[in-house]
Amino acid sequence: KKIAVFASGSGSNAENIFNYFKNNDKVTISLILTNNPTAGVIERANRLNIPFVVFDKNAFKNTNEIVKLLQENNIDLVVLAGFLWLIPENLIEAFPNKIVNIHPALLPKYGGKGMFGDNVHKAVVEHKETETGITIHFVNQHYDEGKVIFQAKCKVLPTDTFEEVASKIHALEYEHFPKVIADLLLTFS
Ligand code: GRF
Repeated sequence: KKIAVFASGSGSNAENIFNYFKNNDKVTISLILTNNPTAGVIERANRLNIPFVVFDKNAFKNTNEIVKLLQENNIDLVVLAGFLWLIPENLIEAFPNKIVNIHPALLPKYGGKGMFGDNVHKAVVEHKETETGITIHFVNQHYDEGKVIFQAKCKVLPTDTFEEVASKIHALEYEHFPKVIADLLLTFS
């Protein structure tokens, strides 16, 4: 099975997923795609020898280029790992129930694109939540509203800084995201 990973930032989830499947000859990350020419994920792709593509808004939103590229690469599953743009209709139609996203909060709470400034963890701390977590869900036309596949929780202590919350969230992401992807791929014919 072939996975394409979309990332806009550091790409630590992309690298974690790559490592999880490194010795699995049935699953591989065939392609990394990013909208950000300075994203840290590019350095990771180079180091891990994973082909990558940098695309701009026009290519992504107004053409079929990216969909065609994924189809030419026989991609089975599209994984969004810290990808910050809305997924356009043509991509969703080309990969129905084959696009998954990880959101660093317990949707439907703290969902939506940048609703809480630049950092959902700051909002969680400011709202004095006693727990938060991750949500892995299918992607549909509405940001963060696709069917939930998996959620995991962690405690938020009154003394936690948003950085501490972020590191707890990253730990959950690294622990669970690859396994959820592996289980999902088992259901693909
Ligand atoms: C992760 O926390 C993910 O949940 C969120 O953006 C972050 C991406 O981190 N959507 P990285 O680029 O995988 O390091």
